[in-house]
Order: sequence, then C-alpha cells, then structure tokens
Amino acid sequence: MSTTDGWKITLRDICIRCGRCVRVCPSQIFAQGEPGGTIVLREPQGCICCGHCVAACPVGAVDHEAFPAERVHAVDRKALPSPEAVELLLAVRRSNRALSQRPVPQEWLDRILAAADRAPTASNARELGYTLVTEPARLKQIAEYTLGVFRRLERFLSNPLVRLWLKPLLPGVYRYVPVFARLRRDYAEGRDRILRGATALLFIHAPEKNRFAAEDANLACQNASLMAEALGVSQIYMGFVLTAIRQDRHKHLNRMLGLEGRRIAAILALGMPEFHYPNCIDREPAEVHRI
Ligand SMILES: Cc1cc2nc3c(=O)[nH]c(=O)nc-3n(C[C@H](O)[C@H](O)[C@H](O)COP(=O)(O)O)c2cc1C
Repeated sequence: MSTTDGWKITLRDICIRCGRCVRVCPSQIFAQGEPGGTIVLREPQGCICCGHCVAACPVGAVDHEAFPAERVHAVDRKALPSPEAVELLLAVRRSNRALSQRPVPQEWLDRILAAADRAPTASNARELGYTLVTEPARLKQIAEYTLGVFRRLERFLSNPLVRLWLKPLLPGVYRYVPVFARLRRDYAEGRDRILRGATALLFIHAPEKNRFAAEDANLACQNASLMAEALGVSQIYMGFVLTAIRQDRHKHLNRMLGLEGRRIAAILALGMPEFHYPNCIDREPAEVHRI
C-alpha cells in the first residue's frame, strides 16, 4: 500500500499481533478488531512518516519504505545517560560569551546539526531548514546588518514626536534605545556584542506558512545547544539578530542568506570557548503551581 507521498507500508507475516503499532500510531493507520486479532492497515495515505510503528514493533514486522533496515537501530536503554548525567549537562550548559578565534571543527558542527534535526516538529512536518554561516565576511555582514537595523530603530524612536506618543505606550521598547547606542559604540571600538566573536551561526527556519515555525525551530535549537555543550562548544542564542530580522520589513537578511519565503525562527551562535567554567550555579527556582 502507498501513502500520498508514495511510501509503501506493509505488515510482515512475523507480526505477533501485539497491537503496539495500533496504540502508538498518531494517524490510526493500523487497526485491530480485538486484542490479539489480525492487524490491518487502513488509510495509509494519512501516515505522517513519524516512524513510531517501526520503532515500537518488537519483531520488525512493520515494513515501512521510509525506514529501511539501515535506518532502524536496536535501543540499548542501559547505554542512555543517567538522569544525573542529564541534570549535569543541563546545569553546565551556559551561554559562555568568552570565545576564542578557534573555529568549531566541521565534524562537531555536523553533530550539532544532526542533534537539531532529531527534534520533534508539529505533525512531524519536518519543514525546518538549517543555514550554517561560518564565512568570516558573512558573519561580519550579519553583525553589521543587526546594528544597522538597530540604528534605524533608534533614530525612529528618538524622534521627539514619535517619542511623545510611543514612549508611554511602549516603555519596554524604549529601555533598549541606550542599549542600541552602546552596542554600536562597542562595535566601533572592536567589541562585537552581537555575535560575541562566534565563528559559526546556525539559522533555523521554516516556510512562512508553518504555524509552528517558532516552536519547531526552538526545540531544534535547544537540541543543538545541548549537543554543543556536550562537545565543549559554546552556544549563545542570538536574540538581537532575531529582533533585527523581525524589525526589518524589507527582509534584507533573508535575501542575503537566500531565505526568501522562509521565517527565521531561531539563531544559535557557536564558538570554541576560551575556557570552560569550573562551577555551575543554582538559580532561584521558578514558581511551580501544582493543581
Ligand atoms: C530568546 C533568547 C534570546 C537571547 N538573546 C541573546 C543575545 O542576543 N545575546 C546574548 O549574548 N545572549 C542572548 N541570550 C542568552 C541569555 O541571555 C541567557 O540564556 C541567559 O542570560 C541565561 O544564561 P545561560 O544561557 O548561560 O543559562 C538569549 C537567550 C534567549 C533564550
């Protein structure tokens, strides 16, 4: 049988009718009349290609064209990091802004990208795209683009007439006016507070029409961030660059990166740290309401 994507899905005779595929499939592709009964496929064109059926089957009975044998791996749960190891990784992951000029090895960038690409996406749409910028001239262009947008914003917000009616409405935005000026001054003096000396920028984007672009991209970004930390690579979320992109009606950066029609929804700066922090700290825990 085929899906609209042309995927063939079949159940082999070795099926033990355990019903796992029936229970885990989000699209109800599999059906079973009664427990232990024959499993049949129905409306397989609804398959979202998430691979749960293949991953959950204990005997390898689900033959899914998108997941041939080389894409299916037995899981040794004993090899998973312990909760303590995960807690430690989460505690030591920091946005270390003291970066050296040493480039991040390509092999590590590839692993970081692969980690991002493992993140879940809404309806398993997997519409995210990744643009990795490592060319120094490009990186400089991106920092200067950001400062340019901020400069225009600063000029607009500082206009006395605009200030008069907008400042009471947007006090939070006006807090950034002196920040923009400081960022520009620092850059002119050789301190790039935008990219912080990162040697790679990972742009995560999705089609404009994707309603879950931000959610998908930020989950991918966090995967990338944790993998980077595990490799000893520093990572900093690029909120300033994202803000500039959002404020720019002309979408210059999208064009610069060949990303017309795509929404850049997360950006991660990567670089080799000058040093690793010898300590991790506990911050004030968030309020938790248990209802
Ligand atoms: C949405 C978002 C935007 C951010 N933007 C920037 C940024 O533009 N520049 C920067 O240096 N850090 C940026 N950060 C990093 C935060 O300042 C940092 O995560 C926070 O201070 C906590 O520190 P930690 O990441 O080391 O735990 C951003 C973080 C987030 C989540």
